[in-house]
Amino acid sequence: MVTILGRAKINLTLDILGLREDGYHEIATVMQSLALADTLTLTQQKEGITLRVDLPGLEADERNLAHRAAALIMNECGVRGGVHIDIVKRIPVAAGLAGGSADAAATLRGMNELYALGLSDEDLCRLGAKLGSDIPFSIMGGTVLATGRGEIMQHLADFPATHVVLAKPSASVSTPWAYRSYDAHPPELHPDNAAFLEALTRGDRTRCIELVCNVLEPVTEAAHPVIGDYRTRMRAHGALCAMMSGSGPTVFGLFAEERAARAAAEDFRSGTDAAVHLTQTAGRYGE
Ligand code: C5P
Repeated sequence: MVTILGRAKINLTLDILGLREDGYHEIATVMQSLALADTLTLTQQKEGITLRVDLPGLEADERNLAHRAAALIMNECGVRGGVHIDIVKRIPVAAGLAGGSADAAATLRGMNELYALGLSDEDLCRLGAKLGSDIPFSIMGGTVLATGRGEIMQHLADFPATHVVLAKPSASVSTPWAYRSYDAHPPELHPDNAAFLEALTRGDRTRCIELVCNVLEPVTEAAHPVIGDYRTRMRAHGALCAMMSGSGPTVFGLFAEERAARAAAEDFRSGTDAAVHLTQTAGRYGE
């Protein structure tokens, strides 16, 4: 039996550089792991893949990315035997936090351990990329510049440790919808990733925070104006910055002080119908 965490992520920057021939978008995004994680317990069984998720309404069959990750690695490695996967879900679903990718990544790492497959991180990332663009990052964690369709990773200096409040409005956003909407109305404002990377190298959190920018934010916000309200609410509580993560709709606030972060989380819990989490930035797995 193996127990493993699958961490959530936020995008500190997200730029779209163009549409590719394969239908995906060429992106450049700084991704950051969070301590907030789902817990997966993998148990060997004689045959087949079974899944239990503690969240009613979330599919526990082949439609679940963790199930597909287990099938892929068993197939590729010729695993003789099966696995039961038990998921304790904490990361909000369809939220822009890579919750599904986190579970798939944890399944790949867990299967590697459970069946002593001896796969390297690179092997696991190559497999993960077949299932979803965010999965290689979710396998490694930390602070990364991801390019290509999101699967090519450059590890960066860790973003300085920061308190994070997540507020997910009740709406759910489909990633393909967000990218299609971007194509229909591409916004003018793009992040300056080069400046962000330079500030990160200097450990200059203040400058990094001035540079957070997500091209999908105005796109998703046009359909879900609550995102703008949440940003304002985060800032009113002293957030250093507040922005939407990924394709949304979750809004994250970064806070210097835990007390202010706690107060913001309390305010969202009592004053809105958001799903709220108080967490921190996290480094690479195993560090
Ligand atoms: O790779 P993943 O399965 O997570 O992507 C989900 C969808 O998001 C894709 O089918 C595509 O519509 C969109 N996408 C994109 N460009 C990317 C990543 C995702 O257009 N770089």
